[in-house]
Amino acid sequence: MPVQNAAVLPTPRARLEVIAADIPQPAADEILVRVHAVAINPVDWVIQGTSRVTYRWLRTPAVLGSDVAGEVVAVGSGVTRFRVGQRVFGLATGTDRGRDPRREGAFQEYTVLLERLAAPTPDALSDEEAAVFPLGVSTAACALFQPGHLGLRMPIDGTPTGNGGVVVVWGGSTSVGMNAVQLARAAGYDVVSTASPRNAATVRSLGADTVVDYSSASAVDDLVSAIGGRPVVGAVALGAGSTDACIDVLRRTGGSRLAMASTPVSLADLVGRRRLFPAMLPVFGRIGLTTARSTLRARRAGIRAGFVWGSSLRDDEVGPGLWGGVIPRALADGNLRPMPEPLVVGEGLADIQGALDRQRAGVSASKLVVRV
Ligand SMILES: NC(=O)c1ccc[n+]([C@@H]2O[C@H](COP(=O)([O-])OP(=O)(O)OC[C@H]3O[C@@H](n4cnc5c(N)ncnc54)[C@H](OP(=O)(O)O)[C@@H]3O)[C@@H](O)[C@H]2O)c1
Repeated sequence: MPVQNAAVLPTPRARLEVIAADIPQPAADEILVRVHAVAINPVDWVIQGTSRVTYRWLRTPAVLGSDVAGEVVAVGSGVTRFRVGQRVFGLATGTDRGRDPRREGAFQEYTVLLERLAAPTPDALSDEEAAVFPLGVSTAACALFQPGHLGLRMPIDGTPTGNGGVVVVWGGSTSVGMNAVQLARAAGYDVVSTASPRNAATVRSLGADTVVDYSSASAVDDLVSAIGGRPVVGAVALGAGSTDACIDVLRRTGGSRLAMASTPVSLADLVGRRRLFPAMLPVFGRIGLTTARSTLRARRAGIRAGFVWGSSLRDDEVGPGLWGGVIPRALADGNLRPMPEPLVVGEGLADIQGALDRQRAGVSASKLVVRV
């Protein structure tokens, strides 16, 4: 079997190591991609540091990573949308339950992607720009379009299908948030959002008509007054503290759907601890209690609240609709820009561990990218 290099997680909580690994072969509905750029997501260091508790199904050694851009080098027998030599970007879902993290992880020279979770890279985009999209845009689409979340209709052939109303995106300067703002606008909705003042203009440029500072004591009041009398179709909650704030906004504006994407307590400190046990006990206790309390508050207010799983679109209509229709069209029409802007922090698989550490330390409106 042909051999490549892969950055693997050898055991839970270990540092990534670059080793020789088999090049996977594409199944009928997959493409084999020579990876040119990968982007880093918070979930990568969360899995590295806490998989024993949070991703208990994950077997090591495992290849982590969701965001891939590169070139098609082989196609499965049933693939119709791609050909060898084409530039492509897509969502790798190897760390999900039931998937194979050796075949389908981003952090290696060659990986397989499902045809339905990939799109051609337009000539105008670099691989580094294309790599910022996959998990951010997929999670945003799950929140906005899955029937169990906001249940909005996807734009078809570039035509907005929404019948107006406001989408609240709390955390508009996150990767997921920047994509959510753009997709909600493309679908025909007004957007109000939050960000630090330094990122407010950027989030506005993506289509939010109002951007308030999420750390301000008046953030909820400011959003409610900006919404005015407009109907609210739902809220996407991103970042610590976002769930309760969104419940407050929805209660006061009559909105009834909330998509939550973040744990109420960041796992960043826990991941940095030398030992996971027993440090995890109070953290997970707080997460459980806070979630139960927020869910109860939402229910009492008549708000349907649910947690988003950003790769769950693999198994429903949102995946092919997003990757096969909405993304190519919105890129062509200029309704979707690669945001947050890529910040290249490494060249080669050996630099991915440093990029994970840097993501965990915190980023502001930038997507860390490593060229492979
Ligand atoms: N459930 C899923 O499937 C899924 C998938 C992807 C991501 N997520 C979660 O979604 C969240 C965003 O992930 P990401 O990759 O998009 O983030 P990211 O790009 O790493 O987010 C960085 C941004 O977060 C903003 N931020 C920090 N604290 C905030 C707060 N309390 N409220 C609102 N914004 C805050 C900062 O904005 P400023 O610089 O403007 O201050 C910063 O620009 C994370 O919690 C992540 O774990 C979940």
